[in-house]
Amino acid sequence: MKKALILYDSVYGNTKKVAMSLSRGLEAGGLYVDSNFIEDFDIRGLNNYDIIGIGGPTHYHGASKKMKSFLNKIKHLKMEGKYGFAFETKGEFRLAGSAAKRITRYLNKINLKIVHPTITGIVLDQEGPLKDATLDFMEQVGLNISDKVNNSNSQSKLNRRSKN
Ligand SMILES: Cc1cc2nc3c(=O)[nH]c(=O)nc-3n(C[C@H](O)[C@H](O)[C@H](O)COP(=O)(O)O)c2cc1C
Repeated sequence: MKKALILYDSVYGNTKKVAMSLSRGLEAGGLYVDSNFIEDFDIRGLNNYDIIGIGGPTHYHGASKKMKSFLNKIKHLKMEGKYGFAFETKGEFRLAGSAAKRITRYLNKINLKIVHPTITGIVLDQEGPLKDATLDFMEQVGLNISDKVNNSNSQSKLNRRSKN
């Protein structure tokens, strides 16, 4: 069974909710899932996972301070052969910025294969709530990601078989 890890930052709990819904979707798709707050996770554990999703709130148009310091800790790692994706929450206004864009840059740096475009949950105000139906949507996104990971696995098996 493939193992996924969801790491999040969250001040008011909205990004945590998004993280939990993504996790539920991944689980529904047959993956084993662990989730953790970024500051509670020992980065030596990253190697135990096939898929790593990292997300946080958008602060000052980019990633939160905690997220930036976490990304700095992981930027020298090399994680060949694993999948990654980034998620975020933010307000719905022009020039809101994006935490997930910055996270994606780091996922690329550590050679994760990006399995889904940046995933955004919109908050109606700084402390929430999330826009209606966001959590259902996130569950579906998690399910789609697990499908992609499972199918690409069978696809590479097929490719290997046709080469032999
Ligand atoms: C210090 C601070 C700066 C923020 N800056 C932005 C911003 O630049 N763009 C934006 O869309 N939202 C901004 N927000 C709103 C956050 O995106 C929102 O609080 C967050 O999505 C809620 O997620 P959380 O409950 O997981 O903390 C800011 C919030 C805080 C507390």
